[in-house]
Amino acid sequence: MAFFRFTRSKHRKLINFTAAHLMAVLFALLAGTSSAWAAELNVYTSRHYKVDEKVNKLFEEKTGVTVNKLFVKNATQLMERLKLEGKSSPADVLILTDVGNLVRAQESQLFQPLKSKIVTETVPQRFRDSQDLWTALSVRARILVYHKDRVKPSELSSYESLVDPKWKGRLLVRSSTNIYNQSLVASLIKASTVEDALTWSRGIVANMARKPEGGDTDQIRAVSRGVGDVAIVNSYYYARLAASNKAKDKAVVKTVKPFFPNQAGRGTHVNISGAGIVKGAKNTDQARQYIEFLLTQEVQSLYSLENFEYAVHPQVKASPQVQSFGDPKLDQTPLSKFATHSSLAVKTLEKSGWR
Ligand code: FE2
Repeated sequence: MAFFRFTRSKHRKLINFTAAHLMAVLFALLAGTSSAWAAELNVYTSRHYKVDEKVNKLFEEKTGVTVNKLFVKNATQLMERLKLEGKSSPADVLILTDVGNLVRAQESQLFQPLKSKIVTETVPQRFRDSQDLWTALSVRARILVYHKDRVKPSELSSYESLVDPKWKGRLLVRSSTNIYNQSLVASLIKASTVEDALTWSRGIVANMARKPEGGDTDQIRAVSRGVGDVAIVNSYYYARLAASNKAKDKAVVKTVKPFFPNQAGRGTHVNISGAGIVKGAKNTDQARQYIEFLLTQEVQSLYSLENFEYAVHPQVKASPQVQSFGDPKLDQTPLSKFATHSSLAVKTLEKSGWR
């Protein structure tokens, strides 16, 4: 049974689908009939990071607008719910991780234009939708993490080189149902062809140390334990471990190192978390104000310092952990250019046998 976390900032509750759905409908009715609800904002989000609670609290303190948050980790389920609710949905803002999800929401016509000067002036064009339907809030790189005793950094170069037979039984990566891998494959399709992306996916499957299981952090821990030698993970998961004070995390970080692939070519694949204003939103002004707030230096610094993501705000520096990565070359391709290959990437991954 799926659980949806529908929280009003001061009264957190965990409720199941039926109760949450009833609440949402009731909420929609109230929102449509009472002006007292105007100082509220309904945010549907699949961002799964602690820092977001703090950010919402800050927004409430600064504006007096109450943020009602519906958290559903699975972005597909969240989008399905929005589609089911249709015009009666209380949602004002939709926040998703990964551009693949943002483009799917766009294709399902869940967004309306942002119409915000702050968005266009703050966020570099490659991190925004060309039709103004969504904007990035933060950026992350899909990097390699290797065991420092069993792999020399000189043995690593690109995503493409990971299909070399020398890596047989040594690679760790999560399931292909995960959007991070789907977008990586979409970026490979964009950089080359579907055929090459299929050959690559098959090569990765052939070199896996085990069947995919767990999330990105689990892959890093597995490298440390010796289950495999190289993992493909998002940068903030490694940085989070590197910043942790827990003894067991420190022990892991001692044994592994990060590596940014494709430095000699197009640069390391990057992705985003992002937001848009929901089509038919009742609180459009607050929705815009909220997204603009998420792009302030204050919030961008929180994303950077507390969640170890790259800020999209050009003036906000990376956290010390992320700065310790150096200044790697990151892929400059506008994200929407490969995100449109998302469905093709899913088919490619299925065909390759990547579970
Ligand atoms: Fe994540």
